[in-house]
Amino acid sequence: MKRSAEPFGVRICGTGSCVPARVLSNDDLSKLVDTNDEWIVQRTGIRERRVCDLSREGTFTMARDSLKNALDAAGMKGSELDLIIVGTVTAEMTCPSVAARVGAALGAVPAAAFDLSAACCGFVYSMNLAQALIQSGQFRTIGVVGSECMSSIVDYTDRTVSILFGDAAGAAILKRDPDPRIGCLYSTMGADGSGWSSLYIPRREQEVPECDRDSPIALGHLRMNGKEVFRFAVTKFREVIEDAMSKTGLTPESVGQVICHQSNIRIIESAREKLGLPSEKVFINIDRFGNSSAGSVGLCLDQLWRAGKIEKERPFVMVAFGGGLTWASGVWRI
Ligand code: UT7
Repeated sequence: MKRSAEPFGVRICGTGSCVPARVLSNDDLSKLVDTNDEWIVQRTGIRERRVCDLSREGTFTMARDSLKNALDAAGMKGSELDLIIVGTVTAEMTCPSVAARVGAALGAVPAAAFDLSAACCGFVYSMNLAQALIQSGQFRTIGVVGSECMSSIVDYTDRTVSILFGDAAGAAILKRDPDPRIGCLYSTMGADGSGWSSLYIPRREQEVPECDRDSPIALGHLRMNGKEVFRFAVTKFREVIEDAMSKTGLTPESVGQVICHQSNIRIIESAREKLGLPSEKVFINIDRFGNSSAGSVGLCLDQLWRAGKIEKERPFVMVAFGGGLTWASGVWRI
């Protein structure tokens, strides 16, 4: 596509999401591992999470259904997409990508398709990349998805990890728009790979660091040093939101919603209080869905969008951190 001399914007035409019907409550978990509802609620804010029936659901089906919902909301067909990006670390296969299968299922052939691996930042990274690709003139209409079947990589004998994670997907359709005022006003993406072993999914023993060699968690399952991730997240989250707001001149009064990756209620609340953000501007659904990694921010966006809480003229912020270690933000006006 040729670059246009006229400036243009990027419209979020529709959003969608998908969560499995099966609920895993804290009481259910307490039958699997040594934990209890009170501890989980106090330390994380989570009451229940959704988990796939792995015989028929997973990252692919949730990605497909969330993107289909977003297309329906936008009044569009799969054939109108020219790229699909799926943020995920739980793809059923490394080849083909989840995105390619989603494209085929939704009639989006020959749209380009690839998966993006940035752990819990998967959706925000994908949104940032998609808008930059539209701004470059290379693509016109992009389906962005964050989809994660965490239950397929969680070891349900590990009480630190199993209490946190759930399965979900969220999606958005981005399209080039003649109005240059709408779209992504500011974005950041960062990573510090020196902290990778705080949150990782090893496939081979060779990848396991010396200090973790005695871990009882089987290969192919998520391993996490909760305290280290917590320490990193609590500072990073605040810094990233603060940076996004100050660079765009937003204040707690003028910002619309601040959509945070649903990692732990204590991490979100600590940032919210330090930044003086009112609670009605920081959406929380971790109590019902847990931490769904790349699914989390897209799910929040869709729930807010459908509730009419994403206002025109009041920019909203999306922010995430996760394995890598990675972090990302995006400020959008619709
Ligand atoms: O998307 C990014 C993904 N990861 C995160 O965001 C994780 C960030 N980290 C966290 O959210 C928290 O570190 C956890 C929720 C994982 C753990 O909370 P914590 O307040 O850091 O607990 P802790 O690891 O310091 O453990 C405190 C105590 C320990 O017992 P002792 O040694 O004090 O007797 C643990 O053995 O709580 C115990 N414990 C539990 N007890 C009941 C740890 N997990 C559990 C549990 N149920 N599930």
